[in-house]
Amino acid sequence: MTDRLILVLDAGTTSTRAMLYRRDGRRIATAQADLTQYYPRPGWVEHDAEEIWRQSLACARRMVEQAGGPDRIAAIGITNQRETVVAWDRRSGEALHRAIVWQDRRTAAECEALREAGHEPMLQRRTGLVVDPYFSATKMRWLLDHAPVVRDAGERLALGTVESWLAWKLTGGLHVTDASNASRTQLMALDGGDWDPDLCALFGVPRAALPEIVDNAGAFGETQPDILGGAVPISGMAGDQQAATIGQACLRPGDAKATLGTGAFILANMGETMPASAHRLLGTLLYRIGDRRAYALEGSIFVAGSLIQWLRDQLGLIEKAEDTEALARSVADNGGILMLPALVGLGAPHWKPQARGIITGLTQGTGRAHIVRAALESLSHQIHDLADAFAADGAPWRLLRVDGGMSANDWIVQDMADILNLPVDRPSDVETTALGAAMLAGLGSGLFSSLEEASAMASPATRFAPAMHVKERAARLRGWRAVLATQ
Ligand code: G3P
Repeated sequence: MTDRLILVLDAGTTSTRAMLYRRDGRRIATAQADLTQYYPRPGWVEHDAEEIWRQSLACARRMVEQAGGPDRIAAIGITNQRETVVAWDRRSGEALHRAIVWQDRRTAAECEALREAGHEPMLQRRTGLVVDPYFSATKMRWLLDHAPVVRDAGERLALGTVESWLAWKLTGGLHVTDASNASRTQLMALDGGDWDPDLCALFGVPRAALPEIVDNAGAFGETQPDILGGAVPISGMAGDQQAATIGQACLRPGDAKATLGTGAFILANMGETMPASAHRLLGTLLYRIGDRRAYALEGSIFVAGSLIQWLRDQLGLIEKAEDTEALARSVADNGGILMLPALVGLGAPHWKPQARGIITGLTQGTGRAHIVRAALESLSHQIHDLADAFAADGAPWRLLRVDGGMSANDWIVQDMADILNLPVDRPSDVETTALGAAMLAGLGSGLFSSLEEASAMASPATRFAPAMHVKERAARLRGWRAVLATQ
């Protein structure tokens, strides 16, 4: 048993991956496929749920082959982009509509109406979440109102987030979601264990279409034999940001991590205390395992890696993401360029779905390096805004652990340490999202007896110490506040 491997499926926003882990935490193989993004209208973002499934399956099969067959896999862990909504037909097992992605802003008007009707304080108290198109509930309602095929599906309708969709497809009909993903729908009370009937009624989401909420680790089900060539247990599931928090071993209250993926998500472990933010942060479930529950306070930044993608694909300023580091270093400063990267509105702590991006300070001397550097700097500034909000909520960071693809960029990690004026630790393997799912799957399959034991899988970190002159830091923060004030 001990030499068997853990297979993780990580269904992210821009790519789908499968990875193989050894019990000691070593990642021994990875398969990856890019996911098509659909932008049917300004502010709308969709995925093809069948493509997510096809790619997940193809990547998983490659990993099983590499492992030497399904018998070599002890357990599967699933982690996923959160909030994204899939609607499918229980009978055919096929998606009824494109998935509506977490970044999608199409329900901004419905959210405004909920706010005007005075529901926000109650929703924030009960779910930990503000009213914003980000969360699943209004997206589910939109599908019921606007997609006849969803509305007419009746009893055949299944709704869920991405882990739920994958679990259904892998097992051939098990309809489950884990508690961390459920806590992002706005349909579960943060301290509850099941869907909340009042919240389902408010958003008009039929309870019968929703999955069963299960723990983050446990024996959930097995893959159908023809899927991977044998029955493999699925024993860990978590939203990607909660998984990364676990993968970073943020297991004690106060431990905080920032994952720089498509967006940037900062979560601080709050222990058993249910968070109630007074500064527009989110309260969310970190994990639920048997009687044990831990909460997190979260700040969600919508644009991080996707800003780099935009510099590459829309502006053509770089050829590949890695170019940003050399470009940022090639100039002494930002040359007066400031960027507000509100490409899909602004997330925490501002929550302005209608905000639009800005680049200011252009002169004849502005080069692409200045624009690229300003883009990277804007990430540090947004994280700094969150640091202020966490501190004001009584959860100051002592140290920030950083991970995710963009954290491979030394310049940006140093700039974060400088602007936050805090040490920033980066693990040697920055794929902590998948690692967290592997830890949960290991726990759920009995490979480990506790999360603490599973955390031995975490890799050692390099520390970036703050080194910026106090005056330079103050000037950077002043510039950022000025550009923010224009919104
Ligand atoms: O809440 C959205 C988040 O789960 C997306 O994560 O890694 O795809 O940016 P990522």
